[in-house]
Amino acid sequence: MTNKNISIAIDGPVGAGKGTLAITLAKKLNALYVYTGAMYRELALACLREKTDIKDEEKVFEVLNKISIEFKPTNEGIKAFLNGEDVADEIFKPYVGKAVSVVAAFPKVRKEMVLRQRKIAEDAIKNGKNVVMEGRDISTDVIPNADLKIYLTADINIRAQRRFKQLEERGIKTSFDEVLKDIQERDRQDIQRNVSPLKIAENAIVIDTTDDRIEQTMEKVEKAMEKLREENLI
Ligand code: DC
Repeated sequence: MTNKNISIAIDGPVGAGKGTLAITLAKKLNALYVYTGAMYRELALACLREKTDIKDEEKVFEVLNKISIEFKPTNEGIKAFLNGEDVADEIFKPYVGKAVSVVAAFPKVRKEMVLRQRKIAEDAIKNGKNVVMEGRDISTDVIPNADLKIYLTADINIRAQRRFKQLEERGIKTSFDEVLKDIQERDRQDIQRNVSPLKIAENAIVIDTTDDRIEQTMEKVEKAMEKLREENLI
């Protein structure tokens, strides 16, 4: 048991296992789980629905300021809603996936998203909740003072296999090669982006999940938490 509310930031590339770890940790710590990728995906979906030119930063920013993005508990866990509508399945379709890296690269969009995400984390802590947030820039920009910062990574072929399986489970038809190509492209975009590129934060623990099952990754995270407890940092 921890003595104070804790915040955990998880970053890493597509398919590194962020979601599985974040959900498992959030359950264990009775924490608020925030999947920030859903926020960027919802913005992309809103732009596509409004036929906004997704290459126009101002227009995309206007859409962001109009839409409501909420996280609500449901029987299937915490879900993201766009203007009150459950879009959990829609946001994972490839046409949204392609648009999201375009809108997520705009500085104005990122600045606003970071502010919103930081507020979600701060409100949770203020209200006596632990928080587990996953994304690309959580430990570097959103909550750089998080109690625990985790950078997950894995071999690209394993990441592509995991993403392919996730898409299959959601009933989305694609091929392994297409997924692999998409991941290579998204890695490039995430890492080379000028604003908040994906990088390993100072003091982050790096976990390579290539050969791990979730139990093994959790053991590594629990060890890191134990160390923080011994040092009275959490
Ligand atoms: O985690 P994900 O793959 O569902 O994220 C979708 C997209 O959003 C991906 O292209 C990276 C981007 N993203 C981001 O730029 N910053 C975040 N904090 C979360 C996601």
